[in-house]
Amino acid sequence: MKFFLDSAKTDEIEYALDMWDIDGVTTNPRHVLVSGKPFLKVISEIGEIFAGTDKPISVEVNPHLDDWTEMVKEGKKLAAMSPNFVIKLPATEPGFKAVYELAADDIKSNLTLAFSPAQALQAMRMGASYVSPFIGWKEANGEEITHFVDEVTAIRNNYGFETEIIVAAARNARQIVNSAVSGADIVTAGMPVFKDAFDHPYTDVGLGKFQGFWDETPYE
Ligand code: E4P
Repeated sequence: MKFFLDSAKTDEIEYALDMWDIDGVTTNPRHVLVSGKPFLKVISEIGEIFAGTDKPISVEVNPHLDDWTEMVKEGKKLAAMSPNFVIKLPATEPGFKAVYELAADDIKSNLTLAFSPAQALQAMRMGASYVSPFIGWKEANGEEITHFVDEVTAIRNNYGFETEIIVAAARNARQIVNSAVSGADIVTAGMPVFKDAFDHPYTDVGLGKFQGFWDETPYE
């Protein structure tokens, strides 16, 4: 399973690339806002970090756009900035159409804000390179998510679509593991979620015990 960092903070991205060999990045308007930098500046800095790699960076079109021709225009502009950029488009009718048009031009897209298997299926049909089921938002709303990811994955596998499934807005290790068991290709999460997932209190307890034994044992 691939791990993407969900962030637009360049220091976090550099850390996650260096320490965890993350496979890509997803950004969204909230991440760009909290980066404290202008949109074009921060995405081009992220593009620089990954220059020379084939790791994808999802960059989102202006969320106010509701006309697919405008979405395509902006998607092409962003795609021209970096070969790593994947254009993030919303799961709306113009968003699906923009996915289709960009695919016809060999521009990769990530259909975001997908909350139902039917939306994910349409993204796959229209040629999205990635689709992002938003599990964290759904679960926070009291909805079941494991079956959701199971269904999206089964649909993709049944028909051999090439779309990769990015389980998005993952909030904890259990969601990451469940998504891996479901066969999703990628999980994207923020830095604290990964840090927490890579940790376990028993590991610290065990390490403390081993340190005690080590200290009582001659080295040579
Ligand atoms: C995914 O691509 C999104 O950027 C992300 O997962 C949205 O979740 P958030 O609520 O953590 O920003």
